[in-house]
Amino acid sequence: MTAAESNGNFPGKGAGAPVGVAILGKGTVGTGVLQLLSEFSYNLEQRIGGPIEVRGVAVSNVDKHKDAPEVQGLYLTGDATELIERDDVDVVVEVIGGIDYPRELVLKALRSGKSVVTANKALVAAHGSELADAANEAGVDLYYEAAVAAAIPVVGMLRRSLAGDQVQRISGIVNGTTNFILDAMATTGASYEEALAEATRLGYAEADPTADVEGHDAASKAAILASMGFHTRVTFDDVHCEGITQITADDIAAAKRANQTIKLLAICERLLDENGNTRAVNARVHPTLVPNDHPLATVDKSYNAIFVEAEAAGRLMFYGNGAGGAPTASAVLGDLVGAARNKVHGGRAPAENLYADYPVVGFEEVETRYHINMTVNDRVGVLADLARQFADSDVSLSAVRQEESGDEAHLIVVTHAAQERNLQEIVERLKGHEDVRSVNSVIRLGA
Ligand code: HSE
Repeated sequence: MTAAESNGNFPGKGAGAPVGVAILGKGTVGTGVLQLLSEFSYNLEQRIGGPIEVRGVAVSNVDKHKDAPEVQGLYLTGDATELIERDDVDVVVEVIGGIDYPRELVLKALRSGKSVVTANKALVAAHGSELADAANEAGVDLYYEAAVAAAIPVVGMLRRSLAGDQVQRISGIVNGTTNFILDAMATTGASYEEALAEATRLGYAEADPTADVEGHDAASKAAILASMGFHTRVTFDDVHCEGITQITADDIAAAKRANQTIKLLAICERLLDENGNTRAVNARVHPTLVPNDHPLATVDKSYNAIFVEAEAAGRLMFYGNGAGGAPTASAVLGDLVGAARNKVHGGRAPAENLYADYPVVGFEEVETRYHINMTVNDRVGVLADLARQFADSDVSLSAVRQEESGDEAHLIVVTHAAQERNLQEIVERLKGHEDVRSVNSVIRLGA
């Protein structure tokens, strides 16, 4: 099918025609979207080929928002469904958050022939296939650049810019709150609790920071990145997820001594067979010791960065604001221009293209390296015995460092790459060993 024929299947309204937009939600992002729409209206019209006309803004509490400057002169409604179904709405922007209610609204919009722009990572990571199917059946667009790292154009980069390449691995700092906390711990020596309190005081962390600090937010983003990068649907439930709540000031100090920095990384990688062909893919989120000379180690404060390794392009890094009203609104507007342009001129955005459909394997199957910090009895033969335990679990040692203190010794063991399953096994063995007083921390190595 040629492009012209394809556009014929998805005809446009014609140059100069207005594009009706419904905005669902008026939190920080919705407000940012409305502000940018007003500020950039002339430029947006030039880029789209027709003006954007906001048909209405749906909110859960009309009274709360009716005096806000951004909605003056606009139709404000508590009935999102009625707004979506209006004939003069062409594109629906969903910036509500949550999963079940926005899913219902987004599906309704797509099935009514409206293109959708969403910033909702949890929704896309949980129900991406269902949404993509609905968009394909209706012949409309589904865009979600803002769902991953806000203004950093990483979804479009994977979907369009690297569409001709082979992405091998993606590792990224995709949660600003946890990066702020880990950076504050490293730069001030603060405890996790103190750094979290500071993140809350400055407005980075939510009143309930669970989704950030337990890694759930990053896991949704990892699922989307892996899906795009490997042309294979990876969902939130496929992503192994560990947060930062167990990281201590001692861990941070030990990392510094070893010229490493602890980062919460989302890692998406291919698993290769003996011929170098992809046999499966994996996505995970966990605290990781990153060597200080790796670009990700330098990403401080609440910044995000995504490091991509592609066969032909080589190593790429994308850095910037991964959250906040204006940066997220910037990404939403970029998508809105794409969706609106297609409504005016016809055609559709590049589809997700998840043709590869590799098996998505669990964490136990991947190879990682461990940095284990433990306290052991300081007596003859302990080190030799522990080394044998590692060998029995098929885990090879890379480095061992011991610091004595009275009748006990602090032991730092760094392993070579080994199957995560075997590494988990050795940690359980160590915990049960009569000469191991405590396993103080286990952190994986390598960006
Ligand atoms: N709470 C997220 C962060 C932003 O701290 O990066 C939204 O995903």
